[in-house]
Amino acid sequence: MKKIKKLKPEMFTSVKGMHDILPQEQWLWEKMDKAVKNIANFYNFSKIETPVVERVELFEKTTGQETDIVEKQMFTLVSKGEESMVLRPEGTPGVVRAYIQYGLSHLGQPLKLYYFGPMFRYEQPQAGRFRQFHQAGFEIIGGEEDSLYDAQVVIACYRLIEEMGINECSVQVNTIGCKNCRPAYRKKLQEYYKGKEKNLCKDCKRRLVTNPLRLLDCKEAQCQELKKEAPIILDYLCTNCSKHFKSTLEYLEEVGIPYSLNHYLVRGLDYYTGVVFEIMTTGFDFALGSGGRFNDLVELMGGKKTPAVGAAAGLERLVEVIKAREIKDSHRPRQRVFLVHVGDVAKRRSLSIIELLRKADIKVAETLGKDSLKNQLRNADKAGADLALIFGQKEAFEENIIIRDLKTGAQETVPLPKLADSIKRKLQ
Ligand code: HAM
Repeated sequence: MKKIKKLKPEMFTSVKGMHDILPQEQWLWEKMDKAVKNIANFYNFSKIETPVVERVELFEKTTGQETDIVEKQMFTLVSKGEESMVLRPEGTPGVVRAYIQYGLSHLGQPLKLYYFGPMFRYEQPQAGRFRQFHQAGFEIIGGEEDSLYDAQVVIACYRLIEEMGINECSVQVNTIGCKNCRPAYRKKLQEYYKGKEKNLCKDCKRRLVTNPLRLLDCKEAQCQELKKEAPIILDYLCTNCSKHFKSTLEYLEEVGIPYSLNHYLVRGLDYYTGVVFEIMTTGFDFALGSGGRFNDLVELMGGKKTPAVGAAAGLERLVEVIKAREIKDSHRPRQRVFLVHVGDVAKRRSLSIIELLRKADIKVAETLGKDSLKNQLRNADKAGADLALIFGQKEAFEENIIIRDLKTGAQETVPLPKLADSIKRKLQ
């Protein structure tokens, strides 16, 4: 027989920054999926799914040409057609595109939408930072420009994180003002940085002219140092923005969401207007969720003037915190019933027992491929099962089965037709 020429396994590792979600982690992702659905249903968000691939212009024109996401992090696709396409780096522009494209404003004012899916950014991978990651997002589009909605997206995102067992969270909040008041602040910032340009990083030197607010967001040490004395926007807000910001904070206080003001939080996306926020947790320097108001985005994309606000949580980051804190989960599914066979006849008939239990909606685990009783019982133990169903030659012949309580060791033999009822009674 021809020998297989083995290739090196290193050739087949996953792509940098992309990760597998392995079977042993699936319970956590299923839990997250459930938590997102529960929170969305409770707060009346309807699900929307948009394609993973979008036109490049969608993000260039909305997230912003000057942002890290568009400048450095887009996965551009080489396609056969003329259109230039990218793997979506975030969810909001696609949701707004669909809102306009399908006239979704008729579905409700405001329209509350949520999504759950993979996003792609060409970033330098590190703790909590991947090139493919998942976001759960909540957007409230249309209706009144009411700060109640700002508070509601923060609450939805915060409660999702809390639902996953993560505590010690706090929301950092700021506002970046509106078209009316931001220009004065921009000017003030430019004045403040005048003469200090040589101490700024390369990107900030450029951004000082094009988008000075982004200087407050820079992670470079020299820029962080300069930021400490920079003017804050609160002193330049118009009455509307000031009122809106204050009442958002009052709503958060009303429901006991802890927050702190971060005057230098500006967020790295161009479409924000007004309130912006990031949800942080003790001991980690990344945001678990973030968002803000984007009142101009629908209009910018050709729709009517429509107020909007939203937030998205980064699900890999939640997993990271859950693992680091070893947050135990009482809902982690375990196999409560384990079927064990002894002998060939029983092994064959075991398949019918599984079918019988499926009809009764009782989940049953097994390792029927193993013939040793000892091995099978060990697996039942490992699975954390409460009951072992022991099915041997004698039981197969007499049409009954032994139910063993794995905690107490007590055993009972029951006729097969009564098996489902007996299990249900014992598991109650
Ligand atoms: P963002 O801050 O870019 O905002 O991302 C939202 C969340 O996604 C972050 O708080 C973080 O938890 C997670 N995240 C971002 N990048 C990565 C990464 N490379 N790896 C792992 N997790 C990551 C947005 O995307 C906006 N669309 C949020 C929004 C919704 N604003 C209004 N509506």
